[in-house]
Amino acid sequence: MKIDGYPVISKQEVVSLIKDGDTIAFSGFTAAGAAKAVPVMLAEHAKQEHAHGRSFRIRVITGASSGDYIDNDLAEANAISWRAPYQGGKTLRDQINRQEVEYVDMHLSHVAQTVGAGFFGRVDVAVVEATHITPDGRVYLSASIGASPTWLACADKVIIELNHCHSPRLSELADIVIMPPPPRRNNINVQTPLSKIGWPYAQVDPKKVVGIVENNEPDQVAAFNLEDDTSKRIADHVIEFLLKEKLAGRIPPEFFPLQAGVGNTANAVLAGLGRHPDIPPFYMYSEVFQDSMMDLIDAGKLLGASATALTIVPEKLRQIGDNMDFYSRKIVLRPQEISNHPGIIRRLGVVAMNTALEMDIYGNVNSSHVMGTHVMNGVGGSGEFARNSHLSIFMTPSIAKGGKISAVVPMVPHVDNNEHSVQIVVTEQGLADLRGLGPLERAEKIINTCAHPSYRPYLRDYIAKGTCGHICHDLTRCFELHRNFTEYGAMLPEMASDL
Ligand code: COA
Repeated sequence: MKIDGYPVISKQEVVSLIKDGDTIAFSGFTAAGAAKAVPVMLAEHAKQEHAHGRSFRIRVITGASSGDYIDNDLAEANAISWRAPYQGGKTLRDQINRQEVEYVDMHLSHVAQTVGAGFFGRVDVAVVEATHITPDGRVYLSASIGASPTWLACADKVIIELNHCHSPRLSELADIVIMPPPPRRNNINVQTPLSKIGWPYAQVDPKKVVGIVENNEPDQVAAFNLEDDTSKRIADHVIEFLLKEKLAGRIPPEFFPLQAGVGNTANAVLAGLGRHPDIPPFYMYSEVFQDSMMDLIDAGKLLGASATALTIVPEKLRQIGDNMDFYSRKIVLRPQEISNHPGIIRRLGVVAMNTALEMDIYGNVNSSHVMGTHVMNGVGGSGEFARNSHLSIFMTPSIAKGGKISAVVPMVPHVDNNEHSVQIVVTEQGLADLRGLGPLERAEKIINTCAHPSYRPYLRDYIAKGTCGHICHDLTRCFELHRNFTEYGAMLPEMASDL
């Protein structure tokens, strides 16, 4: 059977096209638009091969994190040997932390250029979810753009997962352009969050398309947790700060476009902004379009959003497809190279709001590696937004694990965003505006405002007894809290049970 001139291929044909050691680029940015049927076929195939004593492990690239079929099922089948550029699944995370899978954690705006330049070697096969492909090679993508246009351009062979579950009208949101390699790169003419500069489809050389796999399965996007008290308090501090900035004339009346990172805290902040009567309707120039953003559009609070993925529950995705005349004027989906482009973020004056695991007393932020060793997810897009935004905000609850961990520490054991890119830090305790402050002023502000009261005496003592040049540190103690946690299960063992 053929669809638009391309053969529909069976599982047997799919697995015969993919060899042990191949590099496979899957569509998907989060679970949105992720390849689904082929990863399942490959996981089953890997198990069979392993049962026969044969090796079958592939190198996996996606736009960012992916659906469970890749980061859990393929991982459970021990079918992944190498992974880039981001992940968020427990099975794969554990394998990475046991050194069973190599993981390249990288800025997401770099992915397309890195792969296009061949830094990761050849892409043997691209597996890309689409709603439609034409005989001349126009590929209409589904719920995310990510780096799929680049996969289609550079892979040796292409398999299209034609997913009939998605509305074909999703392509009306897409604005796809592939930038030429440097040094032949022109200005990117995105002047407003909703500017369109490209086409609604990606392109592939039809001769590379080795087959189509049909599918009818929604994206595996789960709803966020309800806002808890801690995230609401963080949101309140952020809102109060933004209102003060507006009153001081440092935010214009029409507001700046906002970016919000992943996680429950970011979602709560967005919801809080939406509810506040004094926050004017605003735009977003962000990476992922989340559930809370859809609610804000429906309420008239969010005027429009640029993103690379619609990471929303299937009912909301259907609502967009069914009301495309309305949503196509409000949402633009771009390749991640453009949604996260440093120059555009700087041009638009984006206010970036990202989440940290921990911060140090000088404002260096760790978002990815627990105790400096065990990866949680990755740096994601936080780096490009934090470094290039007009205002860069990082948020985190002041304690984790019931108080056994302080999110404010003397020195972070892994740095994703350094003190030069971090301007404002927030916990449920309060907000520290670090702009214009020298290191000791920063430390004082962060300890007094953001640290949990139970950890403030330790942090003050650390500064008081440190060796001071421009910055105060005690290299014999800078990781004492982390060492305590590893040794005793609490950063301040004597206090942990009291919290
Ligand atoms: N040390 C150790 N563990 C910590 C910790 C710390 N300092 N702070 C939090 N944790 C643990 C929590 O206890 C929780 O553990 P659990 O899963 O066992 O319950 C886990 O880390 C997640 O914490 P939570 O508060 O639920 O996080 P979140 O959903 O708000 O996500 C990040 C926070 C940092 C993990 C997430 O935002 C992330 O991956 N960021 C990096 C990428 C990024 O910023 N992308 C957006 C750019 S556009």
